[in-house]
Amino acid sequence: MHVHSILTTAAAAATLPLLASAQGGWGGSSGTGRTTRYWDCCKPSCGWGLKTNSGKYVQTCDKSDGPLGGSDTKSGCDNGVASGAYMCSNQSPWAVNETTAYGWAAVKLAGSNEQTWCCACYELTFTSGPVSGKTMVVQASNTGGDLGQNHFDIAMPGGGVGLFNACTNQYGAPPNGWGAQYGGVSSRSECDSFPEKLKAGCYWRFDWFAGADNPDVTFKQVACPAALVAKSGCSRNNDAINETPTGPSSVGTWTPEATAAPTAGAV
Ligand SMILES: *[C@@H]1O[C@H](CO)[C@@H](O)[C@H](O)[C@H]1NC(C)=O
Repeated sequence: MHVHSILTTAAAAATLPLLASAQGGWGGSSGTGRTTRYWDCCKPSCGWGLKTNSGKYVQTCDKSDGPLGGSDTKSGCDNGVASGAYMCSNQSPWAVNETTAYGWAAVKLAGSNEQTWCCACYELTFTSGPVSGKTMVVQASNTGGDLGQNHFDIAMPGGGVGLFNACTNQYGAPPNGWGAQYGGVSSRSECDSFPEKLKAGCYWRFDWFAGADNPDVTFKQVACPAALVAKSGCSRNNDAINETPTGPSSVGTWTPEATAAPTAGAV
């Protein structure tokens, strides 16, 4: 009898995932979390191989922002590395429309690890500050030893270098990066003097993101937008959810000017 009950339990457990996938997948991480911001120019940790369940890894760039092949180049953050791997400038956030943005983040999730979150995507809904109610889909490109649990450290140029800094080496930024080491620049006009390729992401923070200062979020794991995968080169095989990328592989940047309705006075 004892053996029989074990078999029954095992059979039931084996059946569950099949039922779930027939229903389009379930599970994945979700909960409430916090955010911070950074841009340290370093090679993101998911840029090393063997961090995902697919063998894919986040695209990294050379010092001149040109795509590197392979995943073995040392980080530009490592001591004594003159020409290593850096974060590609096109892994900057952008506005998809008035209420949705796409981007990347260093991630740490309770009870999870890099093998589970590298290149997974999370839909963040901001719950505090001036972006409250807006949504951002981030792909996990990195992790951080100084992150708390359920913590999304959103990558945005000028967001502060944090613990490590390759921006001085790559772009000639001040010794502790642009602005404060933690938090970065504090006004939109400071983005004016940024390297050309980092300007848009720096402005994004003060435009779509409304200069929000570490807003809280609710989050849930989602299949990545194909537009993020096209830029990072990284996607996962199915895990707790169906990871097939969704939507168009290229999504342009929304600007308020392009869609602004005539003002009442102009009618
Ligand atoms: C904004 O874009 C997202 C992603 O494509 C879409 O789900 C959402 O419906 C859009 N919202 C508006 C207001 O257009």
